Amino acid sequence: MPALVLLGAQWGDEGKGKATDLLGGSVDYVVRYQGGNNAGHTVVVGDQKYALHLLPSGILSPGCTPVIGNGVVVDPSVLLSELSGLNERGVDTSKLLISGNAHVITPYNVTVDKVTERFLGKRKIGTTGRGIGPTYADKINRVGIRVQDLYDESILQQKVEAALDVKNQILTKLYNRRAIAADQVVEELLGYAEQIKPYVADTVLILNQALEDDKVVLFEGGQGTLLDIDHGTYPFVTSSNPTAGGACTGAGVGPTKISRVIGILKAYTTRVGAGPFPTELFDEDGEALRRIGGERGVTTGRDRRCGWFDAVIARYATRVNGLTDFFLTKLDVLTGWEQIPVCVAYEIDGKRVEELPYSQTDFHHAKPIYENLPGWSEDITKAKSFSDLPKNAQNYVKALEEMSGAPISAIGVGPGRDETIEVNSFL
Ligand code: GDP
Ligand code: IMO
Ligand code: MG
Repeated sequence: MPALVLLGAQWGDEGKGKATDLLGGSVDYVVRYQGGNNAGHTVVVGDQKYALHLLPSGILSPGCTPVIGNGVVVDPSVLLSELSGLNERGVDTSKLLISGNAHVITPYNVTVDKVTERFLGKRKIGTTGRGIGPTYADKINRVGIRVQDLYDESILQQKVEAALDVKNQILTKLYNRRAIAADQVVEELLGYAEQIKPYVADTVLILNQALEDDKVVLFEGGQGTLLDIDHGTYPFVTSSNPTAGGACTGAGVGPTKISRVIGILKAYTTRVGAGPFPTELFDEDGEALRRIGGERGVTTGRDRRCGWFDAVIARYATRVNGLTDFFLTKLDVLTGWEQIPVCVAYEIDGKRVEELPYSQTDFHHAKPIYENLPGWSEDITKAKSFSDLPKNAQNYVKALEEMSGAPISAIGVGPGRDETIEVNSFL
């Protein structure tokens, strides 16, 4: 039975939380496969609004088992506070499973993230400061701490000491900071261990058995395609693989098991943090998109940079993820514009370019070539089917579909679970 991947097709914040939650009622498992609490996923259920960072959005669907896969980086203090926050609001979190192979974000990883950014000054990435990059760096450097290490005190002590050996040299000699004491870190981590223990499991085995048993598994990406460490706008990216392949490595499920890859696509574009963004607007239109779309970061509270829809990016997302469908979100935000510009190609050094250039320098020089599509002024938030949309909204969706290279199977017309038009079924 199907394994589906749901991921961001732009620079994150496309509305993945809402889309996952919508499908959560019909799937058996929702799995986060990369990233950590740099994510901020908003889910609106009735009059309740939830902001999830580390936990899969499926945690709000009672029948669904939420899973934190091996590819995720876990800050134990954030995990516990997110769980208790949900418990206080009456959400049952007892089914959660966490891979013993997931890496732990330690307090020194958070420190290194912050001091590195400060040191970079004008060249900074604009990270969320949650320790994501340094934790993945430790993983690749083979000096990371894994969730399973919390249950062997002497191994934990050795590993923390080994990691701090080098880091303390850097912190004290390069960044002029105080050294971090290994004993203190070990004590803090051991303090979380027992509380997390009931959730720790062999998630690779469980997920593969579930697929054998015809259960439906949904992989929920954090961040987005253009923030991918391999396929994004490097170095202005996150340190993991939000693209579809990341679901395989980050959850231990083979590519032959995945039947559908759904790209979440905002009807315009936003980005948080530094890095190139060809369709970024610095005028009233950008301000209006930010205001009407509520474009403020869920994790850091930073204003999001806003711009028109970029079809070059959408085509790229279709290609690198093998997208089978798009879920177009926030179409309602565009209501009221007489004309809506859509970027169909770039001009780079006087030449028209249809596809995303692989060269960073070229991408930094890319200027959008726009086509204006006629807008609509009718309220679309109550639309339940495609035919309920005004003709110009229908044409906008059809034009985006044609330019982007995969069918738009759902359209978001508001933040709520039911404010969605389902064009084709996902299951
Ligand atoms: P994520 O990180 O991809 O889960 O997205 P965020 O939660 O960071 O940002 C998306 C925002 O848009 C949230 O505030 C959602 O509640 C909201 N949202 C999602 N879909 C829609 C939609 O179709 N229309 C409107 N108006 N808001 C939406
Ligand atoms: P969701 O899942 C938008 C951005 C940061 C920064 C870069 C690197 O809500 O879509 P990091 O802390 O990951 O090392 O920061 O990536 N970033 C996001 N932008 N949405 C996110 O998550 C993001 N997670 C990280 O702003 O530019
Ligand atoms: Mg977000």
